Amino acid sequence: MWGIIATWTMSKEGIEKAEEILKMSGDSGDAIEKAIKEVEDFEYYKSVGYGGLPNEEGEVELDAGYMDGDTLQIGAIGAIRDFSNPITIARRLSKEKVNNVLVGEGAIQYAYQNGFQRKNMLTSRAKIHYHNRLKEMKELELKPYSGHDTVGMVCLDELHKVVAATSTSGLFMKKKGRIGDSPIVGSGFYADSQIGGATATGLGEDLMKGCISYEIVSLMEKGLSPQEACEEAVNQLDTKLKQRKGQSGDISVVAMNKKGEWGAASNIEGFSFVVANACHKPTVYIVKRKNGKCIHELASQEWLDEYMRKRMEPIYKK
Ligand code: GLY
Repeated sequence: MWGIIATWTMSKEGIEKAEEILKMSGDSGDAIEKAIKEVEDFEYYKSVGYGGLPNEEGEVELDAGYMDGDTLQIGAIGAIRDFSNPITIARRLSKEKVNNVLVGEGAIQYAYQNGFQRKNMLTSRAKIHYHNRLKEMKELELKPYSGHDTVGMVCLDELHKVVAATSTSGLFMKKKGRIGDSPIVGSGFYADSQIGGATATGLGEDLMKGCISYEIVSLMEKGLSPQEACEEAVNQLDTKLKQRKGQSGDISVVAMNKKGEWGAASNIEGFSFVVANACHKPTVYIVKRKNGKCIHELASQEWLDEYMRKRMEPIYKK
C-alpha cells in the first residue's frame, strides 16, 4: 500500500510525478521531494519556491522542512535566499547527525558549500505583485499579511516508510528573517512511520501555538482516524485561540496514517487538497464545513480550470 496527500490544488502535478515513483515501489522520500520540487519550480504559484512573493524588503526568503518517519531524522531551512529547491536542501540536512536546522546566512553558506543550484528566485511577476501591494497598502491601509498557501505533503511507501515535508515563501511582506511553522518540526510537519504523518498550512504564528502536526500524529497514536485527528486538532486550536486572543488565523491540515488512510480539515472555506494511492488517482477535493464537521467535495473540472486561470492571468503594474 502506498499513498500521498498534499495541501492545496497547486500540488496536483507534483502528486502525479510522485505517483509514478510510488507505483513502481519507489521511496517515499524520493517521491515527496520530486512532488514538492515540481511546485517550487512552477513560477505561477506565488507562495512557494520560484515566483514566491517577497518579504517587505523585496527579497524572496524561503523555508522548508523534511522528516523521515523511520529514523525520526529532521532537516529544515529558514529564510534562505537565491537557491532553487529548498526542499532538497532540507532533505539533505535531515541526513546530517547535527546542525539539522539552519537559517539565513548559515543556510545559504551550507547550500553553497554543498553545491546546491543557485538561482534568483524573484520573478518579474512577483516584483509586480510587490509593487502593487506597496501601493495598495498606502492607499487602502491593507494589512501586509493576507492570502497564503504553503505546500505540505505526507507520503507512505510500500516499505511502510512515512515522510512529511513542506516548502513555502511564507507570508507576503513578512519581516526579513521571519519564519512561520513550515520549517518548525511538530508545527508545519511531523512523521512517524509507526503511526503516520501530518502537515499544516495557514498562519504560521497561530499554527505554532498548537504544534498542530505533532498534535495530529499524537491523536492518531491514541486511536483516532486521520480525519478525526485532523478535525479534533483544528477545532481545539481554533477554539483555544478564539478564547485566549479573540481570533484565530487560518488553520488547514492534512494527514495520513501508516495504513494509508487519510484526513483533511480546516477552519476556513476553500481549503483544497490532493490525494492519491494505489486505488485512487490524484484527485483534488475542497474542504467544506457543515455543522462543525469537515466534508470533502470533489473539485469539478470547471473549478480546477478557474483555479489555474486565476493563477496565470496577466498582471499589470498599478
Ligand atoms: N504557514 C506558512 C507561514 O506562516 O509562513
